[in-house]
Amino acid sequence: MEKLVIEGGIPLSGKVRIHGAKNAALPILAASMMAEGVHRIENVPDLLDIHVMLRILRALGCKAELKGDTVSLETASAYSSHIPEELMRQMRSSIFLMGPLLARFGHVQVYQPGGCAIGERKIDLHLKGLRALGAEIEETGNTIVCRAECLVGTDIALDYPSVGATENIMMAAVLAEGVTTIYNAAREPEIQDLQHFLNEMGANVTGAGTDVITIEGVKRLTPVAYRIIPDRIVTGTLMIAAAATKGNVVLENVCPAHLTSVIHVLRRAGVQIAVNDDIIKVSCSSRPKAVERIITSPHPSFPTDLQAQMMAFLSLADGMSIIKETVFEGRFKHVDELTRMGADIRVDQNCAFLRGVPHLYGTTVEATDLRAGAALVIAGLAARGTTIVEQAHHIDRGYDRIERIFGWLGAKIERYSPIRQMKVP
Ligand code: EPZ
Repeated sequence: MEKLVIEGGIPLSGKVRIHGAKNAALPILAASMMAEGVHRIENVPDLLDIHVMLRILRALGCKAELKGDTVSLETASAYSSHIPEELMRQMRSSIFLMGPLLARFGHVQVYQPGGCAIGERKIDLHLKGLRALGAEIEETGNTIVCRAECLVGTDIALDYPSVGATENIMMAAVLAEGVTTIYNAAREPEIQDLQHFLNEMGANVTGAGTDVITIEGVKRLTPVAYRIIPDRIVTGTLMIAAAATKGNVVLENVCPAHLTSVIHVLRRAGVQIAVNDDIIKVSCSSRPKAVERIITSPHPSFPTDLQAQMMAFLSLADGMSIIKETVFEGRFKHVDELTRMGADIRVDQNCAFLRGVPHLYGTTVEATDLRAGAALVIAGLAARGTTIVEQAHHIDRGYDRIERIFGWLGAKIERYSPIRQMKVP
């Protein structure tokens, strides 16, 4: 597996454009299945997860190609609603295809996506919502078969504001008969982007961004050209890296309104942040101050997808910080690796207690999952000496060549492939 070699201690500087949002592109690519014809989706990031989604769409009979940052997608030729098990195993988010395939074909066969490094990743809320719309769902072993002669709109109250369940139900309801109202819906910006895409195709969805989303069923949808929103988690990762290296960075093509909770925490740590339109400027010239308490929870609170990165930054702060993870039960796997770099972190159930240290020290660490890997890169950029981050493929699921992005900001970071023991260009 590939690894990243990072020379620490270089303050990041310069400007970089943020690529499109993985977590908006995936459900939107799935939703495109509901309109037969040719879609053009722009600002799609070149990521492992995107390529898996495109492989799944091709396996269903679509023609799908990513050129630069644009996906051309022909969905009329789709003939199957059976997602190959090996592709589901590669990316659990393929579960987003259940709603669209059920709406289009009246049938879908998927497989339990299973857990991952950060938690159990249950899908009971997805299945409960689809059953409420009239789907008959059989679960045999890890195979799930859904059938629905006709989906009928209804009221659905989610036990938890699950992003994926909200999106799956929204998509299934778009072609249902009658009106569906989702209560306790997730409010993430990616859900607003999905609503915008669905309505561009001719749907009638309102309320995304609030906890009540209403979908008035329509007869058919038409394919569109669409541009994905910027990735707020990539933006937040670069903001935190700029602060952790005491750098001075300009981030372009961003949505500051998607990051208010992150901006608030960084300012409490003493980081200077200037915001205007689609630009965020981040600078930090002194050791960060500790932040008394950060609690991850659904948007607009502090995002779980930036918890590990913030922990890497605050492990260098002056004082005690507490981070409480309330979304995923296994999202502290980066703690051991940060500790090996000299961080002083104690975990008690879903709380991490950080006593800030003046320096971290480079060593060999292992990325266990996507955001933990990004946190270790931040720690390596800020550390004294050289850090080797192994299992770098995890990071490629959510960052389009992270070494190139940080290289543009002056970092010394190289990718090595153990097969060739050579630097990967
Ligand atoms: C989406 O995952 C994101 N992925 C995740 O980003 C993100 O961390 C998460 O939302 C929370 O914001 C994509 O959008 C592709 P959830 P999702 O359903 O939809 C429980 C990244 O790093 N739950 O909101 O799977 C679940 O176990 C990834 O980019 C149920 O109990 O998240 C978890 O504890 C990681 N039953 C919590 O809800 C269900 O049916 C949040 O899950 C569904 C979820």
